Amino acid sequence: MSDSAFAYSPSPYRYVARFRDGAWEEGFLSDDPNIVLNESACVLQYAQNVFEGLKARRTSDGRIITFRPDMNAARLKESCRRMAMPEYPEDLFLRAVDDVVRANADVIPPYGDGSSFYLRPFMIGTDPVLGVKPATEYEFRIFGSPVGKYFSRMIKLRVCDLDRVAPHGTGHVKAGLNYAMSLYAITEAHALGYDENLYLDAATRTYVEETGGANIFFITKDGKLVTPRSDTILPSITRDSVIKVASSYLGIEAEERPIAMDEIADFAECGLCGTAAVISPVESIDDHGSILTYFRGIPQEESVTQRIKNVLTEIQQGDRPAPEGWIREVRLDN
Ligand code: PLP
Ligand code: COI
Repeated sequence: MSDSAFAYSPSPYRYVARFRDGAWEEGFLSDDPNIVLNESACVLQYAQNVFEGLKARRTSDGRIITFRPDMNAARLKESCRRMAMPEYPEDLFLRAVDDVVRANADVIPPYGDGSSFYLRPFMIGTDPVLGVKPATEYEFRIFGSPVGKYFSRMIKLRVCDLDRVAPHGTGHVKAGLNYAMSLYAITEAHALGYDENLYLDAATRTYVEETGGANIFFITKDGKLVTPRSDTILPSITRDSVIKVASSYLGIEAEERPIAMDEIADFAECGLCGTAAVISPVESIDDHGSILTYFRGIPQEESVTQRIKNVLTEIQQGDRPAPEGWIREVRLDN
């Protein structure tokens, strides 16, 4: 499993809850991975879809834990609000995550082989609409898939000139439509030999935002962590954790501030962070033909990026005490 890619592989059970007549019905576990929809369902016609991503991992003593699932529950609510969808209550969200993990315990990868169980909570507008308006019926679901690494090598980025965000500046919302808008750009990037796109701010195109599926951070030559402050990037739970790990566990100064493209050549290290990406080092950024390289003369295992990654992954797999509330154990005997 450790060398396998980040790809969908259906697990036996998923959670399904339906919103009808203005209220959420009791959810249930289903063994059917397919959804039958009306041809004019709002999700199909107007992309009324939001989603989340989080991982469950096995600990060295065989327990199963999830990492900060309350943050996913809260962010999903924000996404729902922005997409005119009903919120899914946070306590039900947490219980549903536990249910899916427990029901699929047999396919959750073993401790320490680098793989994990990726959970994908999502919500869609299901009833037919023709005029542009939100659905009145919804489905909230969570499925899971054992996954390996998202990036299989050091990352080559290119600065992307195709705006990813939807026309209404919803880049900070985890909605399917934001990702739909990135599909052309990622296909082009891959065809040209890059692993991801680096997006700049849409207003001035002079500040670093994030990549198609992860936030970005840099390490200065004097060892500080710097990561963009922007209200048009996805508020990454991993990034929030990286900032706290750097400052509280490693004594590294961490700064969240606008990062101008003009200054990125001066940084020593660069990395991506996200649930799927975990922490992945960036080898180079191609800025319109000018190639900036990172980790020059810095052995990967001695880098600040690797030190942060080591502590974060130890916390995430239960090898090191976590800050209060970061780890949720899924009890298998419930
Ligand atoms: N930015 C984008 C565009 C993403 O898709 C993701 C992945 O969820 C992230 C950032 C990282 O967010 P998180 O750390 O909460 O997974
Ligand atoms: C995640 O890291 O959970 C993501 O959503 C990134 C990508 C797979 C869409």
